[in-house]
Amino acid sequence: METIPNTDLPRIQACEPIAISVEPGKVYSWCSCGLTLKTPFCDSAHKNIEGMPYRSVKVQFETAQEVWFCQCKQTKTPPFCDGSHNHVKADLNKD
Ligand code: FES
Repeated sequence: METIPNTDLPRIQACEPIAISVEPGKVYSWCSCGLTLKTPFCDSAHKNIEGMPYRSVKVQFETAQEVWFCQCKQTKTPPFCDGSHNHVKADLNKD
C-alpha cells in the first residue's frame, strides 16, 4: 500500500457541527483525521497515511435522537461538538 506523509492533521472539514439523526443500536464511526469524503464519518482514508495517529471513534446510541457531530476535529469530547469550532473560526480569521 502506498502511503503519503502525515502533515497538517487533523484536517478541518468545517467550522461548524453537523446534526445527524441517529438510530438506536447502530454503530457510528466518526472520522478524527478529517480526510474522509463521507463527513462526519470515517471512510478509512486514514489507512493511507504513514504513521497516522488518528483512528475512527466508534459510538452507539440507545435511543433515536439528533446528535451534533464535530466537523472541525478540534473537539475535546469526540465525536461530539463541544464548541471548540468557535476557536477555530477565530484562528482562521487572524490570517
Ligand atoms: S464542530 Fe468541532 S467542536 Fe464544534
